Amino acid sequence: MLYRRLVAKIYDQAISKVESLCLRRWRSELMADLQGTLLEIGAGTGANLPHYSSALERLVLCEPDDAMRRKLESALRQVSLPGAEVYDWPGECLAVEDASLDVVVSTLVLCSVADPQQTLREVFRVLKPGGQLVLMEHVAAQDARLFFWQRFWQPLWRPLACNCHLTRQTALLLESTGFQLDLRQEVMLGAPAVASPMIIGRATRL
Ligand SMILES: C[S@@+](CC[C@H](N)C(=O)[O-])C[C@H]1O[C@@H](n2cnc3c(N)ncnc32)[C@H](O)[C@@H]1O
Repeated sequence: MLYRRLVAKIYDQAISKVESLCLRRWRSELMADLQGTLLEIGAGTGANLPHYSSALERLVLCEPDDAMRRKLESALRQVSLPGAEVYDWPGECLAVEDASLDVVVSTLVLCSVADPQQTLREVFRVLKPGGQLVLMEHVAAQDARLFFWQRFWQPLWRPLACNCHLTRQTALLLESTGFQLDLRQEVMLGAPAVASPMIIGRATRL
């Protein structure tokens, strides 16, 4: 669809200020010591690629949007990650065996997936016991006034921002899926206030 192609085209430029203010630092921190078999959902234009080790046993990059995936494939050619695999799988349906992965990565994706509950069940399924979901997501505000404005803007925001929801209670969903959480709260500098409350860290499948 034309709009999605436009979004893929301008995505890196649109997010560049926020990347330099905070996202790049968080990506680098989160991806620093990841090892073994790793799958990323909603890999987008490949913003996490420069932070992955070339020593990963297996790197699986999933991106369901055709235009985004083309940019991802092009970004992959600029880095040295031999053997990385690219698929169009949505987070809700990963063609990977049960308990087969060490790490799943999700950055700014759980706000946009059609079914966050199913996505988290699927992530839980594919992780080995002890495996970790490494995540960086914007979420519902704890502050009541900001939450009011998130709910106010959401009907306009969601269609304009490709199904991005402002009010997802992602930490609660993670807990109810059975993950053990090690998350901290942050503020996404440079983003509109309604999209600024963040959770960052790891969720472990026990
Ligand atoms: C805001 S972008 C984030 C891209 C990238 N992860 C990053 O950190 O820059 C959201 C991404 O989620 C993808 N997405 C949307 N629905 C999805 C789904 N059901 N499963 C997996 N990814 C999805 C979009 O195509 C888009 O690439």
